Amino acid sequence: MISAVQKVVIPAAGLGTRFLPATKAVPKELLPIVDVPTIQYIVEEAVRGGVKDVIVVNGRGKVAIEDHFDIAFELETTLQSRGRTDLTEKLRAISEMARVVSLRQKQPLGLGHAVLCAASVVGPNPFGVILGDDLIDAEVPAIQQLITAYGRYGKGVIALMEVPPSEASRYGIAAGTPIDERTLQIDRIIEKPPAGTAPSNLAVIGRYVLPPSVFEILRNVPPGVGGEIQLTDALAVLARTEGLVGHRFEGKRYDAGDRMGYLKANLAYALKRPELRDGLLEFMRELLREGV
Ligand code: UTP
Repeated sequence: MISAVQKVVIPAAGLGTRFLPATKAVPKELLPIVDVPTIQYIVEEAVRGGVKDVIVVNGRGKVAIEDHFDIAFELETTLQSRGRTDLTEKLRAISEMARVVSLRQKQPLGLGHAVLCAASVVGPNPFGVILGDDLIDAEVPAIQQLITAYGRYGKGVIALMEVPPSEASRYGIAAGTPIDERTLQIDRIIEKPPAGTAPSNLAVIGRYVLPPSVFEILRNVPPGVGGEIQLTDALAVLARTEGLVGHRFEGKRYDAGDRMGYLKANLAYALKRPELRDGLLEFMRELLREGV
């Protein structure tokens, strides 16, 4: 069966101020988790979830992201001449795994605006959104979990995760009426609620499956928190007009756009590598012994 969702938008045009100076010339989405850029994991998630058409919304550093998913002819030829077919195959697989198109968000006017920039490329069908700095390590790709929920309920779906109440003001927060064990009908959704005012402890995490009608809403939504066009504000309208579903996904999430989240992701992904695991654990024990 062909999925109703055939395109995924990856917003990757934020300023990445939390990672300056690393992000002065390199987009944060290209910073590596061990040796793989975060955005490669995101594209792999889309592909594993059955979606091969990927639209990257770029800001600065556009060329580097495009190059990462393109054929690296000179590099591949040089590696080939040195007998490194293992590496050429690895690089070639990256350029072949998806059909990546990229476009530019000329000014970082907010996540909602970044998604709106992709409207004409997305066209008239439902589409996925995966934030370019948000990793979810899951057996069933998180975007696929959302696509399945979209197929079941026929409404826009957002990924939700429980967060401690003290952290609620850092996220979009949603509340609603349970439909099944993992899914709820969204009644309220608000971006970065002031401390103590969050309607629940369910945070909106960077995965969405949305109907194309969201573009018209985004065209009309006024700037919200931080003066940015917020996707969450458009989703609040969508929840009222067409209905919106929240899905508590299965998997471990890392906010690779945040320094602590990025470090945790590096550690967790490195520990899964047999060639790194023992050495890394030994070093961590050593640090603990030394009381660093
Ligand atoms: P963030 O909230 O992490 O913002 O964006 P940021 O600007 O990238 O990073 P900081 O806070 O300054 O460190 C969440 C996602 O939305 C994208 C980002 O690239 C990231 O994937 N985004 C955000 C855009 O594409 N355009 C924007 O105008 C804002």
